[in-house]
Amino acid sequence: MQIETVRQHPDRYRVLTGDRPTGPLHLGHYFGTLHNRVQLQRMGVELLLVVADYQTLTDRDRADRPAEHAENLVLDYLAAGIDPERTTIFTHSSVPALNQLLLPFLSLVTVAELGRNPTVKDEIAHSGQSTVSGLMFTYPVHQAADILFCKANLVPVGRDQLPHLETTRTIARRFNDRYATSLFPEPQPLLSEAPLLPGTDGGKMSKSRGNAIALGATEDETARLIRGATTDADRHISYDPEHRPGVSGLVQLTALCEGRDPAELAAEIGDGGAGALKRRATETVNEYLRPLRARRTELAADRALLRSVLAAGAERANAVAESTLAEVRSAMGMG
Ligand code: TRP
Repeated sequence: MQIETVRQHPDRYRVLTGDRPTGPLHLGHYFGTLHNRVQLQRMGVELLLVVADYQTLTDRDRADRPAEHAENLVLDYLAAGIDPERTTIFTHSSVPALNQLLLPFLSLVTVAELGRNPTVKDEIAHSGQSTVSGLMFTYPVHQAADILFCKANLVPVGRDQLPHLETTRTIARRFNDRYATSLFPEPQPLLSEAPLLPGTDGGKMSKSRGNAIALGATEDETARLIRGATTDADRHISYDPEHRPGVSGLVQLTALCEGRDPAELAAEIGDGGAGALKRRATETVNEYLRPLRARRTELAADRALLRSVLAAGAERANAVAESTLAEVRSAMGMG
């Protein structure tokens, strides 16, 4: 599915997506998904965002300050242009009926299928934990409940989430078959068109690697990160992501913010070298984020507002989840 197809009939789609509240959102999130969500919202598509607080427990023993992280995620959403009047934002833990869907859904998948999920395998390899919890294996089924409780038919995600979406489609199909109903749609993925944005070291942008520019970082912090970015010995700037990941990452970031073609931008900087590239990147990123950061600072002072957005979202999500759960129980003959 492409965003241009959605634009032709925005009323045909109900979109659900979300994030684990583990830390501040960065530019990788912004260009990868946030930007897309704001576009969908502007088209008039119905949008729900789950703050996946239970899902943070897949690879750690305890969630670190979960309520505070949830509020900060809402802060990043609102600063980026999500309008809480139009978009429903809620946490897992505030919608009991959503979580109860996990039980019938678990009965529709096999242990072997759960064990084959490549994203889960990868997360286990990188979790740094000596044992693997049951939640790690089953969270894709919980994610199916996130998507199906509101009967979303479109899910904007990165490529790593495609196996979870496949699980969701399998569960929808099997539920409908087993209980002779057409309750659930088989949702489709909406992949971002923006290329994956690398971090300032040329690797995957991630908070834990210290190579990510947070949306809420100050201009000085942004300048420092870019100044410390990995470049290479070739003085002439070119755009060559495969052979020059560091330089090309900075070029790509600058080009995205300026709405330019990266190869053209690199040619323009050319013999200016890494110094000129970094100065340009710093100025461009800080200028691009200035309005978003100003909004963010204003909103950050109003914790009551952030909490009230989550409360209103929970109320709406609970109504939808209770209605779907009633339909599920009825289809299963459980009254
Ligand atoms: N697993 C997603 C991530 O780590 C977060 C998420 C939770 C999600 N529930 C979802 C994404 C439902 C899309 C739909 O980024």
